[in-house]
Amino acid sequence: MCGIVGYIGTREASPILLEGLKRLEYRGYDSAGVAVLADEALKLKKHKGRVTDLAKNVSGNGLSGQLGISHTRWATHGAVTEENAHPHVSSDGKIAMVHNGVIENYLSIRKFLEGEGYTFYSETDSEALCNLIAYHYAKEDADSDNRFLNSVRKTLSHIEGTYGIAVMCVEQPNELVGARKGSPLIVGIGADEYLLASDVSAIISRTSNVVYLNDGEIVSLKDGELNLITSDEQALTPEVKKIDWEIAESELGDFRNYMLKEIFDQPKALENAMRGRFSDDQSTAKFGGLNVSAQELRQIDRILLCACGTAWHACLVGEYLIERFARIPVEVEYASEFRYRNAPLDKNTLVMVISQSGETIDTLAALRESKRKGYKTLAINNSVGSTIARESDGGIYQHAGPEIGVASTKAFTSQLHILSMLALYLGRLRDMSFQEGLDYVKALKQAPALVAETVKLNDQILEVSKKYKDMTDCLFLGRQDMFPIALEGALKLKEISYIHAEGYPAAEMKHGPIALISGECPAIVLATQPDIHGKLVSNIQEVKARGAPVIAVANESNPLPEDLVDDQILIPNCHRAILPVLASIPMQLLSYHIANLRGCDVDKPRNLAKSVTVE
Ligand code: F6R
Repeated sequence: MCGIVGYIGTREASPILLEGLKRLEYRGYDSAGVAVLADEALKLKKHKGRVTDLAKNVSGNGLSGQLGISHTRWATHGAVTEENAHPHVSSDGKIAMVHNGVIENYLSIRKFLEGEGYTFYSETDSEALCNLIAYHYAKEDADSDNRFLNSVRKTLSHIEGTYGIAVMCVEQPNELVGARKGSPLIVGIGADEYLLASDVSAIISRTSNVVYLNDGEIVSLKDGELNLITSDEQALTPEVKKIDWEIAESELGDFRNYMLKEIFDQPKALENAMRGRFSDDQSTAKFGGLNVSAQELRQIDRILLCACGTAWHACLVGEYLIERFARIPVEVEYASEFRYRNAPLDKNTLVMVISQSGETIDTLAALRESKRKGYKTLAINNSVGSTIARESDGGIYQHAGPEIGVASTKAFTSQLHILSMLALYLGRLRDMSFQEGLDYVKALKQAPALVAETVKLNDQILEVSKKYKDMTDCLFLGRQDMFPIALEGALKLKEISYIHAEGYPAAEMKHGPIALISGECPAIVLATQPDIHGKLVSNIQEVKARGAPVIAVANESNPLPEDLVDDQILIPNCHRAILPVLASIPMQLLSYHIANLRGCDVDKPRNLAKSVTVE
């Protein structure tokens, strides 16, 4: 939610800020702004709309200077207007600030500051924070070297809520200050320059050396030096980490948008999820960073999987896989529910969170709550160095590469693959035989090639999409591990095409949703499991009998009778360990093409942001 970029160095700031903002647009894209400081004068440009439009306004507008801050917004407080866009400037004109997060006590701060003569021009919570910095700055000793840093530090001690901020002061043209609590912030260390950003993608073209700020830390970038302190003024030694991303991984190449690129990236993402993660005898998986011994894992009675959105669907598939192959009971919780529910957990429960970004606030809170209660916490996560990766006791990195399209595709199938590997690993610690393990590993290794085969259905799925692009409602039906894939299919369709869609267990349809069925409401049925084929055929009959068109996804060796379905997409036969991955591909391509044919912006769907850092 919202992306921020700051720059201080020897080069022109605004082109660097705008490039960074473009890469952060997935975090929010309703308005954007940039401010640059030079010769003790602040130059500011804001725009309601996308970063590319802001860039057009900035070019040739004299936004010259080597210190600047910028922001791309996902509105929380206040409508999408230029006034509410960031950067905000204090009413005395001295402080400029960009903010990602939510200031919960902003109303009382605002009231106090209005009493002190400060004027407010926006409806945002952020402006209260900006003016409070100005208030403290005015009170600090004018001769102090740390006047600006101290004013930010003192301000933050009064703040309730979350923030990642980048701040400039007109009277301190050599200093950029950043701070975080609850919203991510990193410092990029380049040649003769520092950058502040919400995440690595914004700075990767300039440097791969990064310092991740922890909650409560404040950084001053001044005269070529990085000074990191805690909220109680303790000096910290910054830990510089090397990022191993290639800039090419976040480029579009020949693809027309990121979602399509990322769908086609999946074979590689699956390869990366498996690299170096099988035992020498090829009968089980191994994970370097779990930080839990085989001994400890054998003691587990239950696993709790916790996440939000698409990652929650991955958890549901994980439940099927782990229960089926490792015979360990699994519970799945929405992180947003778990964090406030105070659920009783058994002593021998392992808590595992799943998050592509590693910054989702609810997932992070669920992790923290579990840790506080003394549970061992693991994470499956795609963003090296993210808050969730750093705060969990151990985990498994996805190595799927940057996912930029707002709708998750490759991160989802990579999570499924890792959960399947985990089911194998846990299964082999219990009752899975050596031979079953060998077969399982073989199946996992076949997944990249089979996914490459499945994405070749692209042209057929485009044709199917043309037939259904104008539908207003759609049902996705599946049984067992295909039920979460149905949920995910429905989520993909609604989030990028704005068509109302629901995922349901195929047999549950009769307990209510069947009332929706009509010629106007097609059903997409995942009929991929040979052992329950007959049951799925019956469910399709029930739908057909009520006049709804049926699009079936089935296995090549088990197609449905042609007269039973209107359209049929056949995926390669495969082991059950990788079926959810394969069955996800037609769901992704269908929603992609339908959205595209409807003229929707698939990479930046309305109202959404990729990294949900507010509750
Ligand atoms: C939907 C989607 C979201 C995310 C959810 C959790 O396509 O991407 O539902 O899955 O916001 O995000 P992460 O995985 O970053 O915690």
